[in-house]
Amino acid sequence: VELTATKKQMEFINCTRDEVLFGGRAGGGKSYGQVLDGFIYALKYPKSKQLILRRTYPELEKSIIRTSLSLYPKNTVKYSSQAHVMNFYNGSIIDYGYCDGEKDIYRYQSAEFDVIRFDELTHFTENMYVYLISRLRGANSYPKQIKSTTNPGNIGHMWVKKRFVDIGEWGKEHKFATGSRIFLPAVVTDNKFLLDKDPGYLKRLENLSQKDKQALLYGNWDIFAGQFFSEWDRNIHATKKANFTPQSEYISMDYGLDMLAALFIQVSDDGRAFVKKEIYEPNLIASQAARKIKSETDSPINGIFAPPDLWNRRQDTGKSVAQIFNSCSLPLIKSNNNRVSGWLAVKEFLHPYKDEWGKLTAKLTVGENCTNLIRTLPALTHSDKNVSDVNLNPHEITHAPDALRYFCTMFSGGEKKVNMYTGLEGLLNLTVI
Ligand SMILES: Nc1ncnc2c1ncn2[C@@H]1O[C@H](COP(=O)(O)OP(=O)(O)O)[C@@H](O)[C@H]1O
Ligand SMILES: [Mg+2]
Repeated sequence: VELTATKKQMEFINCTRDEVLFGGRAGGGKSYGQVLDGFIYALKYPKSKQLILRRTYPELEKSIIRTSLSLYPKNTVKYSSQAHVMNFYNGSIIDYGYCDGEKDIYRYQSAEFDVIRFDELTHFTENMYVYLISRLRGANSYPKQIKSTTNPGNIGHMWVKKRFVDIGEWGKEHKFATGSRIFLPAVVTDNKFLLDKDPGYLKRLENLSQKDKQALLYGNWDIFAGQFFSEWDRNIHATKKANFTPQSEYISMDYGLDMLAALFIQVSDDGRAFVKKEIYEPNLIASQAARKIKSETDSPINGIFAPPDLWNRRQDTGKSVAQIFNSCSLPLIKSNNNRVSGWLAVKEFLHPYKDEWGKLTAKLTVGENCTNLIRTLPALTHSDKNVSDVNLNPHEITHAPDALRYFCTMFSGGEKKVNMYTGLEGLLNLTVI
């Protein structure tokens, strides 16, 4: 069999530490390294058992399984697509598995493996990783290892960084009670296979947002620390008035007893937006909040966005906040509460660009009178649990940004995704009576 490997891939293949992470830039040949390493191990240790995991099965099929099938010579393996197992002529096997939800770990409850491989380790939780380590055993003398590959970013960014990247010098073994660990960075070595085949690849990465570019192009692990909206710049985003002629106006709100945060947002036909003013007031019951919004409304409103939980019935009154608002003739529109895509939509609105006079601006600007939004939006930090989400502490700083998110998520991609009637489900009954 004739195969080639980069220096970095050889380092990964030859590494005998208990826990190995090959991590860094996208396209560095990490997944391919797993496929190659799995093959070599299977041939070297007859009847050995390996498990390769991706978070979901479709991802596994499109990447690792496809590459394995094209790489492994037909006279050495037989693949069972039913069982998702590669059977080697010498009795070795490679299982292809996934672990989408926390409960999926129990799929491997009674299994044992010599080597477990995680591809895109930062897609997994630490809990999954630690549980699966316990499946590493066998009545043979073969080396037992966990070998992982990944890009920075995603839900596992923080724990993976702590477990491998921050433990000391890179490329060196570090000893722990649970075994030795090593981090092999895939930063410097270019993957010439990829660049030969697809010279446009680096260009496409260049178009990503600053942070994603740092993660995928440079394999930088330090980017998801600190401020979430690093694109926020008061000089660009805080303005006296809209830099367009407003065509319509919306309200976007977050409501709880601890805070009513409502933003009045003017919108242009070409997808620009300006937060005209804000309401930021604690301790209002729902009917008071509705009245407050009504009293502050000074031009026609095209719609009021609110989070889906406001449609839940309250135990005390048997009514939902949405119903109460509706009976004050303020019908709410149910916004989307997917946090990660919502924050991405906010980022898209804040992304600075040069206007026709060369002055930096953004699709969304905020009136200087909106002091709470201006204070809290730049105060949000990356969550340790999921770097694509924000820290929920201190809770007070989340209200105004949440209200903004409920607007941006409905207007993302430059088009209105607003169906005026979707929010009215369950409320229409009320009006019909
Ligand atoms: N040793 C190699 N021989 C041939 N092709 C390779 C080799 N290493 C990587 N490649 C190719 O380079 C591309 C990127 O590699 P991949 O392993 O998917 O990168 P990563 O997982 O680091 O993002 C793939 O198309 C892969 O097939
Ligand atoms: Mg990969």
